[in-house]
Amino acid sequence: MFRERLRNDKLWDRIVGADQAARLITDGMTVGMSGFTRAGEAKAVPLALAERARNDPLKITLLTGASLGNNLDRTLVEAHVIARRMPFQSDPALRRAINAGEVMFIDQHLSETVEFLRSGQLPPVDVAVVEATAITEDGGIVPTTSVGNSASFAILAKKVIVEINLSQPEALEGLHDIYIPTHRPSREAIPVIAPDSRIGVPFIPIPAEKIAAVVVTQSSDSASTVEPADAETDAIAGHLTEFLLREVRQGRLTERLLPLQAGIGTIANAVLQGFTRTPFHGLTMYSEVLQDSTFDLIDAGKLDFASGSSMTLSSEKHRRVMGEIEAYKRRLILRPQEISNHPEVIRRLGIIAINTALEFDIYGNVNSTHVGGTHMMNGIGGSGDFARNAYMSIFVTKSLAKEGAISRVVPMVSHVDHTEHDVDILVTEIGLADLRGLAPRERAATIIANCVHPTYREALADYYRRAVARGGHTPHVIEEALGWHDSLRRTGRMLPEKTAII
Ligand code: COA
Repeated sequence: MFRERLRNDKLWDRIVGADQAARLITDGMTVGMSGFTRAGEAKAVPLALAERARNDPLKITLLTGASLGNNLDRTLVEAHVIARRMPFQSDPALRRAINAGEVMFIDQHLSETVEFLRSGQLPPVDVAVVEATAITEDGGIVPTTSVGNSASFAILAKKVIVEINLSQPEALEGLHDIYIPTHRPSREAIPVIAPDSRIGVPFIPIPAEKIAAVVVTQSSDSASTVEPADAETDAIAGHLTEFLLREVRQGRLTERLLPLQAGIGTIANAVLQGFTRTPFHGLTMYSEVLQDSTFDLIDAGKLDFASGSSMTLSSEKHRRVMGEIEAYKRRLILRPQEISNHPEVIRRLGIIAINTALEFDIYGNVNSTHVGGTHMMNGIGGSGDFARNAYMSIFVTKSLAKEGAISRVVPMVSHVDHTEHDVDILVTEIGLADLRGLAPRERAATIIANCVHPTYREALADYYRRAVARGGHTPHVIEEALGWHDSLRRTGRMLPEKTAII
């Protein structure tokens, strides 16, 4: 019943069409929209805004939790609505506009955006547009499949537009835990002491008067785009499992491990899914995005509880999870991304963080964001929040990209997101490098021996030998360090085909 979805009577006369609500957004505004890894984004108002901009051009700064589904970033960029965008995206059309210099993209640690807003270090949010399952009697907004930055956007914005999405199950209510850190300089500790700690309220607390418009929608979230596991991701999961079992045998971990975080994308999802075939049990997750693998682990009886900021699922998994959300809800919490990714909590819980690298170098520096050192892929997302503060920071990747034209292990990364100081374990399908307690020269020897595809191994070993001959704590042949990337740019391959034959 719709009355259950809109429980504040005074808001009934604020129900309007998306076009009318979108008129609250004008040229030059900063707009905060819900949406995190293609889940729980406001769906109708952005489309109405793009439609209007076709005849009546306008530009906004668009802030979200992370990436938007339903091709919204594409639609908005094609209508030339986005002047500035932060903190994360994964849309090919927006990526092109960013790399052409048409959209100013600010690639930010996902835990930080609302801290910057709260302290006035970013321009204030004029309008927040938030997707909701329901609005409570007092005007509290019950989010849908993501929380992301929605709570702080709604609290900090001058006006709020709420999209009540009828396709999102009413049973989502109760899933969320909204906690906003207190003000500095007397901020209190964030009281999350376990992944299942509930520390806030199950809705975004704002006064009903702030809700300027309510729009009713019914489009679904987009399905996730992750590819299924393959032989290489299975091999990566195998190396990681073997390593973690060794940690258990040596008494540093138990078979419950420690709370797991797994990054976005095909590789991290497949690796986590591989844990269904391990002796690990009683697992927990304290992560950012919950992908299909989270629910595979719950269904396999391996995972007891998962905390995240969003659920991004394939269509089949989405149907099943939403159909049984009442049962799954006992094992899940969705939190604001500043809490799911908070350095204080990550350090306290002792997270095992598994993220994906675009490339890493012989010393263990990781590039997660820039193709060829210059072109933005998606953004750093939460990988830095977790990598710096984790109990153990693991990066996984396949050893090759583009049919072997690219080695993902290189002499020097062409852009650094995670420095060697934040990287403990590297895994490719070839093997695993345990870098803990190793000096740079030892790290290089370990990485070259364990992670590099055979086609590139000798070339990398040769580079390292010549670098060592020149000396240094972190030896390099500095004029050659980015030579593989230069060759890729000029010839489409990192090494001539006769050197790197697959
Ligand atoms: N140079 C150029 N292209 C590369 C590359 C490299 N070194 N490494 C990978 N690629 C290409 C792949 O070929 C693939 O291209 P395609 O889509 O045309 O086939 C694409 O990049 C994606 O790589 P893939 O290997 O399929 O990995 P993925 O889906 O697991 O995504 C990241 C990997 C790094 C892009 C993704 O994890 C990411 O955006 N990470 C940053 C954010 C993050 O880590 N968040 C974690 C907290 S949730």
